[in-house]
Amino acid sequence: MAIESLPLSYFKEVDDWDTVIFIYSAALKQIGTKIDILNDEFQHRHRYNPIEHVKSRLKKPESIVKKLKKHGYESSVANMVRYVNDIAGIRITCSFTSDIYRLADMIANQSDLKVISIKDYIKSPKESGYSSYHMIVAVPVFLSDTVLDTKVEIQIRTVAQDFWATLEHKINYKFEGSVPEYISAELRECAKMVGHLDDRMLCLNEAISASQKEKDAS
Ligand code: GTP
Ligand code: MG
Repeated sequence: MAIESLPLSYFKEVDDWDTVIFIYSAALKQIGTKIDILNDEFQHRHRYNPIEHVKSRLKKPESIVKKLKKHGYESSVANMVRYVNDIAGIRITCSFTSDIYRLADMIANQSDLKVISIKDYIKSPKESGYSSYHMIVAVPVFLSDTVLDTKVEIQIRTVAQDFWATLEHKINYKFEGSVPEYISAELRECAKMVGHLDDRMLCLNEAISASQKEKDAS
């Protein structure tokens, strides 16, 4: 059952907010473990870690309320589980763009996960220059009397894309959204450089792998 299909009575029985947060926090643990296992398996089979870093977070109550308001919904538990897809979020940082797609495939192939949506801002970066791979998945949370499919937002980025996104976020915060045009333009330039850097680093890495294979074969 999807968390958004739960009867409202389910939330009324206990403290609504605590129940929801408990379920999303369980979903984050589930997905975190899955990602850990995928990384360990990769290390075990290929002697290589595709993941540099994983960070997870639950959205703050005030941010949930703000988002509902922005989209014209009343603040209620029913609306939040239905309309806010990033209550539970996990961010994975990789070295190379090839790792991102490999990891996204491995996640999508988990038979108990449902991929709800994908946004590939690497193939099509945002106006701002933002580039990352986003997935919304539903992960089953096993409770004593039911299984709840719970949405988690997964953002997968390279280290360089993360560097850019973190600075851009800070700048937006500082200027409260109205960033001067010369700064936005500079950020777009930097985003292009990040794209080129990622491409060149990937080529370098492929050259290293090829030369290693040649050495092993001789
Ligand atoms: P939100 O309402 O912001 O969650 O956007 P959305 O529902 O349209 O989803 P989208 O996949 O576009 O963005 C989700 C998340 O990606 C945001 O909450 C940010 O964490 C990140 N993100 C998206 N666009 C940008 C951007 O231009 N700059 C930075 N720094 N982060 C971004
Ligand atoms: Mg968000």
